[in-house]
Amino acid sequence: MLFIASECAPFVKTGGLADVIGAVPKTLARLGVAVKVMLPAYPALTKLIDSGKSVAQYDDLHGGPARLDMARAEGLDLLLLDAPHLFDRPGNIYLDADGRDWPDNHRRFGALARVGAEVTLTGADGWQPDLVHIHDWQAGLVPAYLRQSGMAAPPCILTIHNVAFQGLFPAASCTELGIDKALFTPEGAEYFGRLGFLKAGIAFCDKVTTVSPTYARELLLPEFGLGLEGILQARRADLSGILNGIDLEVWNPETDPALVAPYTARTLKRKHENRAELERRFALNANPDAPLFCVISRLTAQKGLDLLLEVLPGLVGRGARLAVLGSGDKGFEAAFVAAARRFPGSVGAIIGYDEPLSHLMQGGSDAILIPSRFEPCGLTQLYGLRYGTLPVVAHTGGLADTVIDANDAAMVAGCATGVQFAPVTAAALDHAIGRTCEIFRQPSVWTKMMRNAMGQPVGWESSARSYLDLYDTMTSGGQE
Ligand code: ADP
Ligand code: GLC
Repeated sequence: MLFIASECAPFVKTGGLADVIGAVPKTLARLGVAVKVMLPAYPALTKLIDSGKSVAQYDDLHGGPARLDMARAEGLDLLLLDAPHLFDRPGNIYLDADGRDWPDNHRRFGALARVGAEVTLTGADGWQPDLVHIHDWQAGLVPAYLRQSGMAAPPCILTIHNVAFQGLFPAASCTELGIDKALFTPEGAEYFGRLGFLKAGIAFCDKVTTVSPTYARELLLPEFGLGLEGILQARRADLSGILNGIDLEVWNPETDPALVAPYTARTLKRKHENRAELERRFALNANPDAPLFCVISRLTAQKGLDLLLEVLPGLVGRGARLAVLGSGDKGFEAAFVAAARRFPGSVGAIIGYDEPLSHLMQGGSDAILIPSRFEPCGLTQLYGLRYGTLPVVAHTGGLADTVIDANDAAMVAGCATGVQFAPVTAAALDHAIGRTCEIFRQPSVWTKMMRNAMGQPVGWESSARSYLDLYDTMTSGGQE
């Protein structure tokens, strides 16, 4: 089968999509399903091309020559679309140096979809997929190209990782990308007068999934669907939520090379050594009586970090500390740097993207804060669970599905793994931070919650089986 996506860990990553694309094919392989992953050959991937094999050539793919290469790396079989005029650019894969979308993103990802559809229909190097699984708007045009080919095509499944990213372009892009006018309708690829890549994906694929059951329900509501709730309601029978997992080898506190002191649920005291290192890196005071919270996040409105900025005086007043690692919105970046200056020793901020540091933070913090306004799944709370770093999360999307709130019933049953709050307001977040600090002052209760958290089944095994079940219904004639 063929995966088509715009990012894949460990090669190229801007968020959780990359982690998912890097991990699922490996789990599916263990379950007996061979997957090839098609990606654009960004600079981080071009070195693989030299060791790979060219399987197709294009004289003019949206403005320049291109070729498709097969390569194997990091346990993955890759199909790399090498189109230097589209993908050989420095920096962020979606944005120019000024932080604006590349002006030709429609041509860049339209090309990915076009070649993806061609491989789906006619194969590459004698191989042809029995099913194509596309991810997010960047691959959204694949089923449109399949449909307008008029050929019998293998089934296509779309996973929506975040409906806030829709890939919207002027209607005139249809001509440039060779999309039939007949597909440009409100029931099809048109989003309020514009061409919607994600909309086209939803309209023309065979099945739609998203990354948690709660987000699958939320997407049907105007508050979350962002204008796509109508078409998602129309496709309700084909929509389901399959929870993300995490790569248990990459995220393992027992073997993680980024930790100064690896640990297990039986050697939790060693976590203190990681905490001391984190305090050093973020210039934070030590305080054994209050938790060290962390944030590891894209700094965007989605993540609700303005609420956290509002409640910082309360967090600091309780003796707690906060370490923030993130990048994104310049306003948020400046606000967290200013907060670190305002609360020296209590708040530390590192602006940037740092994979090893993100591991050390999971290993050394007591709790991870995720006050998202919406969160399709979220992975950092899953890493937190695995590292015994208790998630304090908004009750939304995948956060609601993966954290067991420390309410009275869960405490009596002894199954709590974190703290949830609703509604997503500063007052509710402040209250959740207060509750977390109270629990932290009861070491036996906190330790029990850490062990509960570390015992949660957060790997891919179960969800990969759910994908497999869905693939089976599709390849055996689509009956359910
Ligand atoms: P999203 O995909 O919406 O950004 P997720 O929680 O699904 O949210 O995934 C975010 C991923 O990106 C996680 O693997 C997280 O550790 C990582 N991440 C986010 N910001 C940073 C950063 N500044 N440095 C390192 N890793 C980061
Ligand atoms: C998106 C979502 C995030 C999810 C990730 C991987 O970026 O914002 O919640 O975990 O995709 O599916």
